[in-house]
Amino acid sequence: MSSAKQIIALIKTHTDGDEDAFFSIALQVAAAEARQGRRRSAEELRDVIDKARRQNQSTSPSVAIPFARPRGDLEGLIDMHQPQLLLKDVILKEENASQLNDVIRQQRKRDWLREHGKVPNRRVLFVGPPGSGKTMTAQALAGELKLPLFVIRLEYLITRFMGATAAKLRLIFDETAKKRGVYLFDEFDAVGSDRLATNDVAEMRRVLNSFLQFMEESNSTDSLIICATNHPSLLDQALLRRYDLVLKFEEPNEKQIQALIKSNLHPFKHSRLAWKRITEQAKGLSQSEIVNAISDAVKTSILDEKNTVTSDSIIRRLEERQQMRTSFLDKNII
Ligand SMILES: Nc1ncnc2c1ncn2[C@@H]1O[C@H](COP(=O)(O)OP(=O)(O)OP(=O)(O)O)[C@@H](O)[C@H]1O
Ligand SMILES: [Mg+2]
Repeated sequence: MSSAKQIIALIKTHTDGDEDAFFSIALQVAAAEARQGRRRSAEELRDVIDKARRQNQSTSPSVAIPFARPRGDLEGLIDMHQPQLLLKDVILKEENASQLNDVIRQQRKRDWLREHGKVPNRRVLFVGPPGSGKTMTAQALAGELKLPLFVIRLEYLITRFMGATAAKLRLIFDETAKKRGVYLFDEFDAVGSDRLATNDVAEMRRVLNSFLQFMEESNSTDSLIICATNHPSLLDQALLRRYDLVLKFEEPNEKQIQALIKSNLHPFKHSRLAWKRITEQAKGLSQSEIVNAISDAVKTSILDEKNTVTSDSIIRRLEERQQMRTSFLDKNII
């Protein structure tokens, strides 16, 4: 397209209010610049486009469209959540944070990648114990990308639609192509396992095979597909290969324990806490148990009209959580 034609097209799309087409033409101009060896102006253009897009996403009411609740056949299969968190709200080990930032970067610059024949990473598996932040991280990814989070509960899907699960999955994958978002297949072990817990093994196989097939399909909308599970050993090897990225969530280390506590002490301050004793008492607890313990300590201080949270009160609450954990485990063994 000549530059005059491009300008005409830009003006047209602008007056029509067709934002997607507007930015897409602007990106074509950037690509043409790059092809002619003018890398600097190409990059400058892309930066301006990126900035404008981000601004539009945060201010324009048009983002309400992709946030519309799933209806019709999908109603009840997918729960929609407005993203409230960012990655900085999640306490992660560095390696995970950097890999997630990589995904975010690839997603934000996906047009640029596509211009060079590359596809942004979008299929991610989270593996880790309960309460380690898998669901929270999915929310944060949605927040960073300013996309809605759609949660699909597979256990529910499989038990409720025995015999028709694969067809329901097809509907969901079609939706990922139609509506860009972060799609979280939670409790994924329900499908991604060879466990024979369900009565109908053939059904599980069918569902798993469909899932594998759908995961392979190329998808032009760049929805993010996240699967989360507590049981990595149950996952089929064939499935693991399908992911662009597998992230392992673990119990928090000392540094993460401190970060979790500090970020949950609000409205109190964290000066002069006995960190050594606290981290010792928190060892072995999940992120979620630690957050709950701190939240209990904070609530008690508020109700007692204190102006601090003491180390002793935190330690007491952590101890309680340790006890809950052991009594629960004991029960499970019996
Ligand atoms: N890494 C983390 N950083 C900060 N808070 C966390 C983290 N992990 C868990 N939490 C706290 O615990 C709560 C529960 O965590 P979340 O639901 O993300 O765990 P999960 O790994 O999805 O667990 P499950 O396997 O049971 O679904 C969060 O809402 C948050 O308050
Ligand atoms: Mg979860």
